[in-house]
Amino acid sequence: MSEAKRLAGEKAIDYIEDGMVVGVGTGSTVAYFIDALGRIRDRIQGAVSSSEQSTQRLRALGIEVMDLNATGPLPLYVDGADECDAHKRLIKGGGAALTREKIIAEASRTFVCIVDPAKRVDVLGRFPLPVEVIPMARSLVAREILAQTGGQPVWRDGVTTDNGNWILDIHGLRIVDPVGLESAINQIPGVVSVGLFARRPADVVIVGGEPPLVL
Ligand code: 5RP
Repeated sequence: MSEAKRLAGEKAIDYIEDGMVVGVGTGSTVAYFIDALGRIRDRIQGAVSSSEQSTQRLRALGIEVMDLNATGPLPLYVDGADECDAHKRLIKGGGAALTREKIIAEASRTFVCIVDPAKRVDVLGRFPLPVEVIPMARSLVAREILAQTGGQPVWRDGVTTDNGNWILDIHGLRIVDPVGLESAINQIPGVVSVGLFARRPADVVIVGGEPPLVL
């Protein structure tokens, strides 16, 4: 599968324009994109990073990492996903970076999502839905989500996000109304963000393959 990830990550370079500040996601597919970005680093101004992990990789390749507050809106965001449906709605957060990813997606004009073929689904929810929570609200949020959705929240024990928070993974969902569920979970006090990208889906999905499929 890493070959498909590499092909997707490298194809996303087609969307780079000279002088851009590029929004950069997190994960193993994005790592291939960052490596490819490193090879053309003189063409870009810099990157806004969604995680400490991506920041380290970008800096190691000599790419300047910039603050979103200083750059303002971005022309392009490239990130992976855990699941992707036919409407380019996504589940993200397998790497626990969902909140910063969501912020950069919102700030970007074009969101290019890079995936391997196994990520494509008819209905979102087979991959447990990540929810970032303020630590003191973990049990409260878990009870609310169970009551509202019937999904089984499981604490990702041992994981602290870059923002100092915790992750609940919601198992057993079949998400027929992604926008509605995203809004409902966002309303629960203590939720920082939910890894459903439905209100702001991807604009382009690149499925890694020979040749890559651009949707
Ligand atoms: C990180 C993410 C990643 O994009 C998602 O987990 C996919 O990762 P990978 O490219 O390693 O399969 O949302 O929070």
